[in-house]
Amino acid sequence: MRLGVNIDHVATIREVRGTNYPDPVEAAILAESAGADGITAHIRIDRRHINERDIMLLREVVKTHLNVEASFDKEIQNFLLEVKPDWVCFVPEREEELTTEGGLNLKAVSKDLERATTKLKDSGIMVTFFIEPEVKMIEIASNLGTCAIELNTGKYSENPIEKNYKKIEEAAQVGIARGLEVHAGHGLNLYNVGKIAMIEEISELNIGHAIIARAIIVGMERAVSEMKERMLFGE
Ligand code: PXP
Repeated sequence: MRLGVNIDHVATIREVRGTNYPDPVEAAILAESAGADGITAHIRIDRRHINERDIMLLREVVKTHLNVEASFDKEIQNFLLEVKPDWVCFVPEREEELTTEGGLNLKAVSKDLERATTKLKDSGIMVTFFIEPEVKMIEIASNLGTCAIELNTGKYSENPIEKNYKKIEEAAQVGIARGLEVHAGHGLNLYNVGKIAMIEEISELNIGHAIIARAIIVGMERAVSEMKERMLFGE
């Protein structure tokens, strides 16, 4: 199972003081050298952390794969078509939210999503949709032509009860049966990642806040390698 390290919150620290440090690009290089299998960054409409300069430089330096999370904003979509990250992950976005609050409501956005997905895929970019672990959503996602789904682990992370775990496990199985690659993430940390990492159908976990928070205390190398170890050996 791959570990995608989301480096947004390195940029959050930069932006709260309007400095040019710490640099998320430097963080990405360190994360990769510590064993990250991919780098993820979310370019939000309000540019509250990651901006165009970060994405362009990440495109240059990332050696594993670059996954950019984004909404359907036209300007951002055109920018991504030029920069060509390896993956684009479509996420819902609300201005007032602290972080992505839930998966995409695929029924409400199906036309925009299908159009944007086709455009990106035609230009060689792989597409994934951030969705709730619900069978219906996976069926719609696969009909809209996505390459992968990213299952929202937020509910499980907040409340790691068996029922929430089973939902993710079942959704991962349905995703694979539908021919999709299955990723997962949101709210995962050293203490709740073990069981999720045991789900064979999931090929990638995207983890941000917990790794960057830990990196502030122990350094990026240790933060990434601890997470990878926990993914391998469980709780
Ligand atoms: N996956 C998606 C689609 C996200 O939006 C986020 C948060 O940016 C993550 C994973 C990572 O979540 P966290 O920062 O809680 O690890």
